[in-house]
Amino acid sequence: MSEFSQPQLTVLFDAGQIQARIRELGAAITRDYAGQSPLLVVVLKGAVPFGADLVRAIDLPITLDFIAVSSYGMATKSSGEVRLLKDLDSSLRGQPVIIVEDIVDTGLTLAYLLDMFRRREAASVRVAALLDKPERRQREVEVSYVGFTIPNAFVVGFGLDYAERYRNLPYVAILDPAAVTEG
Ligand code: XMP
Ligand code: MG
Repeated sequence: MSEFSQPQLTVLFDAGQIQARIRELGAAITRDYAGQSPLLVVVLKGAVPFGADLVRAIDLPITLDFIAVSSYGMATKSSGEVRLLKDLDSSLRGQPVIIVEDIVDTGLTLAYLLDMFRRREAASVRVAALLDKPERRQREVEVSYVGFTIPNAFVVGFGLDYAERYRNLPYVAILDPAAVTEG
């Protein structure tokens, strides 16, 4: 069975739809940040495919950095606790920052990052997320650039994993709950 076609996956957004939407987000960022050099902070690991495509859709002299925070671990339930695993290489002070996320779910991860980046005196902080799952929100966070809003389902692909699998799928799919073991 090919990794790209599996019975427990239901495609939500195919590769063409995702690429088209990322081009639109890149154009919007290019317009909104005209004359500036924003720092894009890609949140590891899930936002890597989205970030890689998004930066190439932005026609500005951007800079790029990475941060890693703990989220779901191997399970699909959030612990509600956020921990910094890998910090940025660069200072944010005085910089316009765009946080690049794979998905905003409870909002806990973003709330943590927004708070930290503001304390570090970024000039501005906005968020770009491939997916927004508003139904489970626990913290109110503003997401300026949203790829797609999705219902409350567990999704994989295009960076999103289940137990570290499926990140390389070129599409986003709902993972059949029967294939998900909680823990
Ligand atoms: P919070 O709840 O802090 O979540 O907004 C952000 C992180 O949770 C993970 N997440 C998912 N991962 N499928 C996944 O593969 C999902 O449906 C899902 N929902 C949340 C993800 O790592 C994200 O960065
Ligand atoms: Mg994950």
